Amino acid sequence: MERFRSALSFLETRKPDIPVLAARPHAAGRAARWFVKNFPGEVAYAYKANSSVFLIGALYGAGITQFDVASLAELEDAATIPGVRLHFMHPVKSRTAIRRAYHEFGIRCFALDTEDELDKIVEETMTAEGPAKDLELFVRVSVPAKNSRIPLERKFGISGAKAAKLLVKTRLVADELGLTFHVGSQTTMPDSYVTGLEEIHKLIVKAGVVVDAIDIGGGFPSRYTDSEPAPLSSFIDVIKAGVDKLPVTEHCRVICEPGRALVAEAESLIVRVDARRGDELFINDGGYGALFDAAMLGFVFPVKLLRTGVETEPLKPFELWGPTCDSIDRMKGPFLLPQSVREGDYIEIGNLGAYGRALSGGFNGYGRYEEIILLDEPMYSMYADDDEQRQSKA
Ligand SMILES: Cc1ncc(COP(=O)(O)O)c(C=O)c1O
Repeated sequence: MERFRSALSFLETRKPDIPVLAARPHAAGRAARWFVKNFPGEVAYAYKANSSVFLIGALYGAGITQFDVASLAELEDAATIPGVRLHFMHPVKSRTAIRRAYHEFGIRCFALDTEDELDKIVEETMTAEGPAKDLELFVRVSVPAKNSRIPLERKFGISGAKAAKLLVKTRLVADELGLTFHVGSQTTMPDSYVTGLEEIHKLIVKAGVVVDAIDIGGGFPSRYTDSEPAPLSSFIDVIKAGVDKLPVTEHCRVICEPGRALVAEAESLIVRVDARRGDELFINDGGYGALFDAAMLGFVFPVKLLRTGVETEPLKPFELWGPTCDSIDRMKGPFLLPQSVREGDYIEIGNLGAYGRALSGGFNGYGRYEEIILLDEPMYSMYADDDEQRQSKA
Protein backbone atom coordinates (compact mmCIF):
# COMPACT_ATOMS: atom_id res chain seq x y z
CA MET A 1 0.00 0.00 0.00
CA GLU A 2 1.33 3.43 -0.93
CA ARG A 3 2.30 5.82 1.86
CA PHE A 4 2.15 9.61 1.74
CA ARG A 5 3.20 12.41 4.09
CA SER A 6 -0.29 13.93 3.97
CA ALA A 7 -3.48 14.00 1.90
CA LEU A 8 -2.20 17.11 0.15
CA SER A 9 1.06 15.43 -0.86
CA PHE A 10 -0.94 12.47 -2.22
CA LEU A 11 -2.89 14.87 -4.44
CA GLU A 12 0.31 16.40 -5.83
CA THR A 13 0.71 13.37 -8.07
CA ARG A 14 -2.78 11.91 -8.26
CA LYS A 15 -6.30 13.04 -9.08
CA PRO A 16 -8.41 10.05 -7.94
CA ASP A 17 -11.80 9.50 -9.56
CA ILE A 18 -13.16 7.48 -6.68
CA PRO A 19 -13.10 8.30 -2.96
CA VAL A 20 -9.97 7.38 -1.04
CA LEU A 21 -9.78 5.69 2.35
CA ALA A 22 -6.66 7.03 3.99
CA ALA A 23 -5.54 4.99 6.99
CA ARG A 24 -3.22 6.22 9.72
CA PRO A 25 -2.09 2.99 11.40
CA HIS A 26 0.21 4.93 13.74
CA ALA A 27 -2.88 6.58 15.25
CA ALA A 28 -4.52 3.19 15.89
CA GLY A 29 -1.27 1.96 17.44
CA ARG A 30 -1.11 4.98 19.73
CA ALA A 31 -4.72 4.53 20.87
CA ALA A 32 -4.11 0.83 21.53
CA ARG A 33 -0.96 1.55 23.54
CA TRP A 34 -2.93 4.03 25.63
CA PHE A 35 -5.66 1.52 26.42
CA VAL A 36 -3.26 -1.34 27.12
CA LYS A 37 -1.33 0.92 29.51
CA ASN A 38 -4.24 2.62 31.26
CA PHE A 39 -7.21 0.26 31.29
CA PRO A 40 -7.27 -1.77 34.52
CA GLY A 41 -7.72 -5.12 32.78
CA GLU A 42 -7.77 -6.75 29.36
CA VAL A 43 -8.49 -4.87 26.13
CA ALA A 44 -10.39 -6.58 23.32
CA TYR A 45 -10.96 -4.69 20.06
CA ALA A 46 -14.52 -4.62 18.64
CA TYR A 47 -13.67 -5.91 15.17
CA LYS A 48 -16.85 -4.47 13.61
CA ALA A 49 -15.59 -0.89 13.95
CA ASN A 50 -12.99 -1.28 11.19
CA SER A 51 -11.40 -4.44 9.84
CA SER A 52 -8.67 -2.85 7.68
CA VAL A 53 -5.69 -5.20 7.92
CA PHE A 54 -3.40 -2.19 8.39
CA LEU A 55 -5.30 -0.97 11.42
CA ILE A 56 -5.73 -4.47 12.85
CA GLY A 57 -1.98 -4.96 12.37
CA ALA A 58 -1.25 -1.73 14.26
CA LEU A 59 -3.56 -2.72 17.12
CA TYR A 60 -2.06 -6.19 17.30
CA GLY A 61 1.46 -4.76 17.21
CA ALA A 62 0.54 -2.53 20.14
CA GLY A 63 -0.49 -5.54 22.21
CA ILE A 64 -4.17 -6.14 21.46
CA THR A 65 -4.64 -9.87 20.92
CA GLN A 66 -8.28 -10.20 21.97
CA PHE A 67 -11.12 -9.32 19.62
CA ASP A 68 -14.87 -9.03 20.05
CA VAL A 69 -16.60 -10.46 16.99
CA ALA A 70 -20.27 -10.08 16.11
CA SER A 71 -20.80 -12.64 13.34
CA LEU A 72 -19.47 -15.83 11.85
CA ALA A 73 -17.97 -13.85 8.96
CA GLU A 74 -16.02 -11.60 11.36
CA LEU A 75 -14.99 -14.63 13.35
CA GLU A 76 -13.66 -16.40 10.26
CA ASP A 77 -11.56 -13.35 9.38
CA ALA A 78 -10.32 -12.60 12.89
CA ALA A 79 -9.43 -16.25 13.49
CA THR A 80 -6.67 -15.93 10.88
CA ILE A 81 -4.72 -13.60 13.20
CA PRO A 82 -2.08 -15.69 15.01
CA GLY A 83 -2.63 -16.28 18.71
CA VAL A 84 -5.87 -14.33 19.04
CA ARG A 85 -8.54 -14.90 21.64
CA LEU A 86 -12.01 -14.21 20.26
CA HIS A 87 -15.14 -13.25 22.18
CA PHE A 88 -18.46 -13.85 20.38
CA MET A 89 -20.38 -11.07 22.12
CA HIS A 90 -23.48 -10.69 19.96
CA PRO A 91 -26.38 -11.72 22.24
CA VAL A 92 -28.32 -13.32 19.35
CA LYS A 93 -26.46 -15.88 17.26
CA SER A 94 -27.63 -18.48 14.77
CA ARG A 95 -27.27 -22.11 15.75
CA THR A 96 -24.81 -22.60 12.88
CA ALA A 97 -22.70 -19.70 14.13
CA ILE A 98 -22.57 -21.08 17.69
CA ARG A 99 -21.80 -24.61 16.50
CA ARG A 100 -19.04 -23.61 14.10
CA ALA A 101 -17.60 -21.08 16.54
CA TYR A 102 -17.24 -23.69 19.27
CA HIS A 103 -16.38 -26.85 17.34
CA GLU A 104 -14.45 -25.44 14.35
CA PHE A 105 -12.84 -22.28 15.71
CA GLY A 106 -12.38 -23.18 19.36
CA ILE A 107 -14.37 -20.19 20.64
CA ARG A 108 -15.40 -20.58 24.27
CA CYS A 109 -16.64 -17.09 25.03
CA PHE A 110 -20.26 -16.21 24.19
CA ALA A 111 -22.70 -13.48 25.27
CA LEU A 112 -26.42 -14.02 25.88
CA ASP A 113 -29.36 -12.14 27.29
CA THR A 114 -32.18 -14.72 27.34
CA GLU A 115 -32.72 -18.28 28.56
CA ASP A 116 -33.50 -19.28 24.95
CA GLU A 117 -30.03 -18.16 23.84
CA LEU A 118 -28.47 -20.01 26.77
CA ASP A 119 -30.29 -23.19 25.73
CA LYS A 120 -29.10 -22.73 22.14
CA ILE A 121 -25.50 -22.33 23.28
CA VAL A 122 -25.68 -25.41 25.51
CA GLU A 123 -27.27 -27.52 22.76
CA GLU A 124 -24.94 -26.44 19.97
CA THR A 125 -21.74 -26.84 21.99
CA MET A 126 -22.64 -30.39 23.11
CA THR A 127 -19.74 -32.84 22.72
CA ALA A 128 -19.63 -36.64 22.47
CA GLU A 129 -18.87 -36.68 26.22
CA GLY A 130 -21.88 -34.50 27.05
CA PRO A 131 -22.37 -30.76 27.72
CA ALA A 132 -19.30 -28.56 27.16
CA LYS A 133 -17.37 -27.96 30.37
CA ASP A 134 -15.28 -25.02 29.20
CA LEU A 135 -17.82 -22.32 28.32
CA GLU A 136 -17.15 -18.67 29.24
CA LEU A 137 -20.63 -17.17 29.26
CA PHE A 138 -21.37 -13.46 29.63
CA VAL A 139 -24.87 -12.33 30.56
CA ARG A 140 -25.55 -9.01 28.84
CA VAL A 141 -27.18 -6.59 31.23
CA SER A 142 -29.21 -3.62 30.09
CA VAL A 143 -27.95 -0.34 31.53
CA PRO A 144 -29.24 3.19 30.92
CA ALA A 145 -27.46 4.95 28.07
CA LYS A 146 -26.63 8.51 29.13
CA ASN A 147 -24.73 10.93 26.94
CA SER A 148 -24.49 8.32 24.18
CA ARG A 149 -24.88 9.13 20.50
CA ILE A 150 -25.92 5.56 19.67
CA PRO A 151 -27.76 3.96 22.63
CA LEU A 152 -27.95 0.16 22.45
CA GLU A 153 -30.07 -0.56 25.54
CA ARG A 154 -33.45 -1.06 23.79
CA LYS A 155 -32.14 -3.81 21.58
CA PHE A 156 -30.07 -5.95 23.95
CA GLY A 157 -29.69 -6.69 27.62
CA ILE A 158 -31.68 -8.09 30.52
CA SER A 159 -32.28 -6.53 33.92
CA GLY A 160 -33.83 -7.00 37.37
CA ALA A 161 -35.22 -10.32 38.63
CA LYS A 162 -35.09 -11.88 35.16
CA ALA A 163 -31.37 -11.10 34.93
CA ALA A 164 -30.69 -12.56 38.37
CA LYS A 165 -32.52 -15.77 37.35
CA LEU A 166 -30.57 -15.98 34.10
CA LEU A 167 -27.30 -15.51 35.99
CA VAL A 168 -28.10 -18.42 38.30
CA LYS A 169 -29.05 -20.66 35.38
CA THR A 170 -25.96 -19.65 33.40
CA ARG A 171 -23.70 -20.28 36.42
CA LEU A 172 -24.80 -23.93 36.38
CA VAL A 173 -23.42 -24.56 32.88
CA ALA A 174 -20.55 -22.07 32.63
CA ASP A 175 -16.94 -22.73 33.52
CA GLU A 176 -16.47 -18.94 33.67
CA LEU A 177 -19.46 -16.71 34.38
CA GLY A 178 -19.30 -13.09 33.31
CA LEU A 179 -21.50 -10.04 33.17
CA THR A 180 -21.31 -7.53 30.38
CA PHE A 181 -23.01 -4.29 29.36
CA HIS A 182 -22.64 -1.60 26.73
CA VAL A 183 -23.33 2.02 27.66
CA GLY A 184 -23.95 2.98 24.01
CA SER A 185 -21.48 4.14 21.40
CA GLN A 186 -19.85 7.60 21.56
CA THR A 187 -20.60 8.07 25.25
CA THR A 188 -19.11 11.45 25.98
CA MET A 189 -19.19 11.50 29.81
CA PRO A 190 -17.97 8.77 32.16
CA ASP A 191 -21.02 8.62 34.45
CA SER A 192 -22.70 5.89 32.35
CA TYR A 193 -19.96 3.50 33.44
CA VAL A 194 -20.65 4.40 37.08
CA THR A 195 -24.31 3.48 36.59
CA GLY A 196 -23.41 0.36 34.61
CA LEU A 197 -21.10 -0.93 37.31
CA GLU A 198 -23.68 -0.13 40.01
CA GLU A 199 -26.26 -2.20 38.10
CA ILE A 200 -23.79 -5.08 37.85
CA HIS A 201 -23.07 -4.76 41.56
CA LYS A 202 -26.78 -5.01 42.47
CA LEU A 203 -27.30 -7.99 40.19
CA ILE A 204 -24.37 -9.98 41.57
CA VAL A 205 -25.75 -9.48 45.09
CA LYS A 206 -29.32 -10.31 44.03
CA ALA A 207 -28.31 -13.49 42.20
CA GLY A 208 -25.78 -14.55 44.84
CA VAL A 209 -23.47 -16.05 42.22
CA VAL A 210 -19.69 -16.20 42.00
CA VAL A 211 -18.59 -14.08 39.06
CA ASP A 212 -15.35 -14.72 37.15
CA ALA A 213 -15.34 -11.84 34.67
CA ILE A 214 -16.78 -8.38 34.03
CA ASP A 215 -16.82 -6.99 30.51
CA ILE A 216 -17.70 -3.30 30.46
CA GLY A 217 -18.10 -3.25 26.65
CA GLY A 218 -17.16 -0.37 24.38
CA GLY A 219 -18.71 3.08 24.16
CA PHE A 220 -15.54 5.12 24.76
CA PRO A 221 -15.71 8.33 22.73
CA SER A 222 -13.74 9.99 19.98
CA ARG A 223 -13.58 13.67 19.02
CA TYR A 224 -15.74 15.14 16.31
CA THR A 225 -16.50 18.72 15.31
CA ASP A 226 -19.80 18.57 17.20
CA SER A 227 -18.58 16.41 20.09
CA GLU A 228 -15.88 17.24 22.61
CA PRO A 229 -15.87 14.37 25.13
CA ALA A 230 -14.39 14.25 28.61
CA PRO A 231 -10.77 13.00 28.65
CA LEU A 232 -10.41 9.23 28.49
CA SER A 233 -8.50 9.25 31.79
CA SER A 234 -11.73 10.33 33.55
CA PHE A 235 -13.43 7.19 32.18
CA ILE A 236 -10.63 5.02 33.51
CA ASP A 237 -10.88 6.66 36.96
CA VAL A 238 -14.58 5.87 37.42
CA ILE A 239 -14.17 2.36 36.00
CA LYS A 240 -11.37 1.60 38.47
CA ALA A 241 -13.44 2.94 41.36
CA GLY A 242 -16.57 0.99 40.30
CA VAL A 243 -14.70 -2.27 39.74
CA ASP A 244 -12.94 -1.98 43.10
CA LYS A 245 -16.32 -1.94 44.89
CA LEU A 246 -17.71 -5.03 43.12
CA PRO A 247 -18.35 -8.14 45.23
CA VAL A 248 -15.87 -10.25 43.24
CA THR A 249 -12.50 -11.79 44.05
CA GLU A 250 -9.17 -10.34 42.98
CA HIS A 251 -9.01 -13.08 40.32
CA CYS A 252 -12.05 -11.69 38.51
CA ARG A 253 -11.09 -10.68 34.96
CA VAL A 254 -11.99 -7.16 33.85
CA ILE A 255 -12.34 -6.64 30.11
CA CYS A 256 -13.26 -3.76 27.81
CA GLU A 257 -14.20 -3.88 24.14
CA PRO A 258 -13.55 -0.50 22.56
CA GLY A 259 -14.18 -0.13 18.86
CA ARG A 260 -14.59 3.56 18.11
CA ALA A 261 -11.94 4.84 20.54
CA LEU A 262 -9.23 2.67 19.01
CA VAL A 263 -9.76 3.44 15.34
CA ALA A 264 -11.88 6.59 14.88
CA GLU A 265 -8.95 8.90 14.37
CA ALA A 266 -7.00 6.35 12.34
CA GLU A 267 -8.81 6.85 9.03
CA SER A 268 -9.84 9.78 6.84
CA LEU A 269 -11.80 9.89 3.63
CA ILE A 270 -10.72 11.98 0.65
CA VAL A 271 -13.64 13.01 -1.53
CA ARG A 272 -13.98 15.13 -4.64
CA VAL A 273 -16.49 17.92 -5.14
CA ASP A 274 -18.41 17.10 -8.31
CA ALA A 275 -20.77 20.09 -8.16
CA ARG A 276 -21.39 23.19 -6.07
CA ARG A 277 -24.86 24.72 -5.75
CA GLY A 278 -24.67 27.71 -3.43
CA ASP A 279 -23.68 26.38 -0.04
CA GLU A 280 -24.38 22.75 -1.03
CA LEU A 281 -21.58 20.51 -2.27
CA PHE A 282 -22.16 17.29 -4.21
CA ILE A 283 -19.32 14.90 -3.35
CA ASN A 284 -18.38 11.41 -4.54
CA ASP A 285 -19.14 9.51 -1.32
CA GLY A 286 -22.03 9.76 1.10
CA GLY A 287 -24.58 8.19 3.39
CA TYR A 288 -24.54 4.86 1.58
CA GLY A 289 -20.76 4.96 1.75
CA ALA A 290 -18.32 5.80 4.51
CA LEU A 291 -20.41 8.82 5.59
CA PHE A 292 -23.35 6.80 6.93
CA ASP A 293 -23.06 8.35 10.40
CA ALA A 294 -22.96 11.87 8.96
CA ALA A 295 -26.12 11.27 6.91
CA MET A 296 -28.17 9.08 9.21
CA LEU A 297 -27.05 10.24 12.67
CA GLY A 298 -25.94 13.80 11.96
CA PHE A 299 -22.28 13.30 12.97
CA VAL A 300 -20.21 16.35 12.03
CA PHE A 301 -16.77 15.07 11.04
CA PRO A 302 -13.84 17.49 10.71
CA VAL A 303 -13.17 18.66 7.14
CA LYS A 304 -10.22 20.22 5.38
CA LEU A 305 -10.08 21.65 1.83
CA LEU A 306 -7.10 20.06 0.11
CA ARG A 307 -5.92 23.06 -1.91
CA THR A 308 -2.94 25.26 -1.13
CA GLY A 309 -3.37 29.00 -0.64
CA VAL A 310 -6.73 28.78 1.16
CA GLU A 311 -5.37 28.74 4.72
CA THR A 312 -6.36 32.34 5.51
CA GLU A 313 -9.68 32.35 3.65
CA PRO A 314 -12.79 32.80 5.85
CA LEU A 315 -14.71 29.61 6.49
CA LYS A 316 -18.36 29.18 5.59
CA PRO A 317 -20.86 26.43 6.53
CA PHE A 318 -21.64 23.90 3.80
CA GLU A 319 -24.04 21.01 3.49
CA LEU A 320 -22.94 17.87 1.63
CA TRP A 321 -24.86 15.59 -0.74
CA GLY A 322 -23.73 12.06 -1.51
CA PRO A 323 -23.50 10.66 -5.04
CA THR A 324 -26.56 8.37 -5.09
CA CYS A 325 -29.98 9.32 -6.42
CA ASP A 326 -31.53 9.14 -2.96
CA SER A 327 -32.58 12.33 -1.15
CA ILE A 328 -31.62 10.95 2.27
CA ASP A 329 -28.04 10.78 0.99
CA ARG A 330 -27.49 14.16 2.61
CA MET A 331 -24.99 15.25 5.26
CA LYS A 332 -26.36 18.41 6.83
CA GLY A 333 -23.25 19.25 8.86
CA PRO A 334 -22.61 22.17 8.99
CA PHE A 335 -19.15 21.53 7.51
CA LEU A 336 -16.94 24.61 7.65
CA LEU A 337 -14.86 25.10 4.51
CA PRO A 338 -13.14 28.02 2.76
CA GLN A 339 -15.73 30.00 0.82
CA SER A 340 -14.00 29.48 -2.54
CA VAL A 341 -14.53 25.68 -2.54
CA ARG A 342 -15.46 24.62 -6.07
CA GLU A 343 -16.06 21.71 -8.43
CA GLY A 344 -12.91 19.61 -8.82
CA ASP A 345 -11.63 20.36 -5.29
CA TYR A 346 -10.80 17.53 -2.92
CA ILE A 347 -11.77 17.50 0.75
CA GLU A 348 -10.35 15.42 3.58
CA ILE A 349 -13.07 14.24 5.96
CA GLY A 350 -11.38 13.11 9.15
CA ASN A 351 -11.92 10.81 12.11
CA LEU A 352 -14.23 8.36 10.41
CA GLY A 353 -12.14 5.29 11.06
CA ALA A 354 -14.88 3.94 13.31
CA TYR A 355 -17.87 2.63 11.39
CA GLY A 356 -16.97 4.58 8.21
CA ARG A 357 -15.59 1.94 5.85
CA ALA A 358 -17.43 -0.70 7.90
CA LEU A 359 -20.86 0.69 7.03
CA SER A 360 -20.28 1.48 3.36
CA GLY A 361 -22.32 -0.36 0.75
CA GLY A 362 -22.52 -0.43 -3.03
CA PHE A 363 -25.84 1.36 -3.71
CA ASN A 364 -26.02 2.97 -7.18
CA GLY A 365 -22.72 1.36 -8.16
CA TYR A 366 -20.68 3.38 -5.66
CA GLY A 367 -18.79 1.88 -2.73
CA ARG A 368 -15.41 1.40 -4.39
CA TYR A 369 -12.44 3.13 -2.76
CA GLU A 370 -8.78 3.66 -3.41
CA GLU A 371 -6.71 3.03 -0.31
CA ILE A 372 -3.57 4.73 0.92
CA ILE A 373 -1.63 5.21 4.15
CA LEU A 374 -0.99 8.65 5.60
CA LEU A 375 1.91 9.41 7.93
CA ASP A 376 0.69 12.71 9.35
CA GLU A 377 -1.46 13.37 12.41
CA PRO A 378 -5.23 12.85 12.48
CA MET A 379 -7.38 15.97 12.33
CA TYR A 380 -8.47 15.54 15.98
CA SER A 381 -6.98 13.26 18.62
CA MET A 382 -7.91 12.01 22.07
CA TYR A 383 -4.32 10.83 22.54
CA ALA A 384 -1.97 13.37 20.96
CA ASP A 385 -1.57 15.38 24.19
CA ASP A 386 -0.72 12.24 26.06
CA ASP A 387 1.93 11.42 23.46
CA GLU A 388 3.38 14.94 23.66
CA GLN A 389 3.56 14.73 27.44
CA ARG A 390 5.33 11.40 27.18
CA GLN A 391 7.80 12.74 24.65
CA SER A 392 8.52 15.91 26.62
CA LYS A 393 9.18 13.88 29.77
CA ALA A 394 11.54 11.54 27.89
C1 LIG B 1 -20.92 -6.00 22.11
C2 LIG B 1 -20.20 -4.78 21.63
N1 LIG B 1 -18.97 -4.52 22.10
C3 LIG B 1 -18.26 -3.45 21.69
C4 LIG B 1 -18.78 -2.57 20.75
C5 LIG B 1 -17.94 -1.40 20.34
O1 LIG B 1 -18.52 -0.22 20.74
P1 LIG B 1 -17.78 1.19 20.54
O2 LIG B 1 -17.40 1.27 19.13
O3 LIG B 1 -18.80 2.17 20.95
O4 LIG B 1 -16.59 1.19 21.46
C6 LIG B 1 -20.09 -2.78 20.25
C7 LIG B 1 -20.66 -1.83 19.29
O5 LIG B 1 -21.76 -1.92 18.85
C8 LIG B 1 -20.80 -3.91 20.70
O6 LIG B 1 -22.04 -4.17 20.24
